[in-house]
Amino acid sequence: MSAIIAPSILSANFGKLYEEIEMINNSEAGWFHVDVMDGVFVPNISFGFPLMKPLKEKATKTLDVHLMIVDPDRYIKTFADAGAHVLTVHYEACTHLHRTLSEIRNQGMLAGVALNPHTPVSLLKDILPLCDLVCLMSVNPGFGGQKFIENTYNKTKELKAMIVAAGLSTKIEIDGGVSLDNAKLLTDAGADVLVAGNTVFASENPSETISKLLNLTK
Ligand code: DX5
Ligand code: ZN
Repeated sequence: MSAIIAPSILSANFGKLYEEIEMINNSEAGWFHVDVMDGVFVPNISFGFPLMKPLKEKATKTLDVHLMIVDPDRYIKTFADAGAHVLTVHYEACTHLHRTLSEIRNQGMLAGVALNPHTPVSLLKDILPLCDLVCLMSVNPGFGGQKFIENTYNKTKELKAMIVAAGLSTKIEIDGGVSLDNAKLLTDAGADVLVAGNTVFASENPSETISKLLNLTK
């Protein structure tokens, strides 16, 4: 089965946001990946609700919102109202992850957990049944265009085995440094969703690059 390609809007040209959204709408991408950064959990500030508005209005595909913020519980309902379909919080930012994921589902969204590169997948054992998606960070979160961390292949395989053993259908998403060189290897390792920022938006023909990424996963 082919993977879902999720272009990261963080790398888009905000000066022509509607065109970028339209390009993704008309491409073979499956999801929009939306990176929200607070300058506290990660050393960068990106955007928040003002960007959700045009996305909710114009995007015709799943809005996959990745919260790189502390205390995400405060904003679960606001993101549901803003149109998020998938809401991913960081394992490292949640003291009461069970409560947080339950609340995301209660608000009608799919619940995701992201792991920083240093966080082992084994820590998810008791929470996996509440995860619709696990996002494995393959760079340290905060910026687009960073180098892919190779250990991600091992983490993906280990997580896939845990999901299969538990009889679950949790999706594995890979976020950071995804390229035409590693897309196939990641899918073979068990990835279901590939986030791609720089690879898509820095390419000459972003829509074609999305198709190329997708074809590599078939
Ligand atoms: C990193 C973000 C990623 C980022 C990916 O903190 O979570 O989603 O936009 O960008 P690339 O694909 O350029 O590494
Ligand atoms: Zn992300």
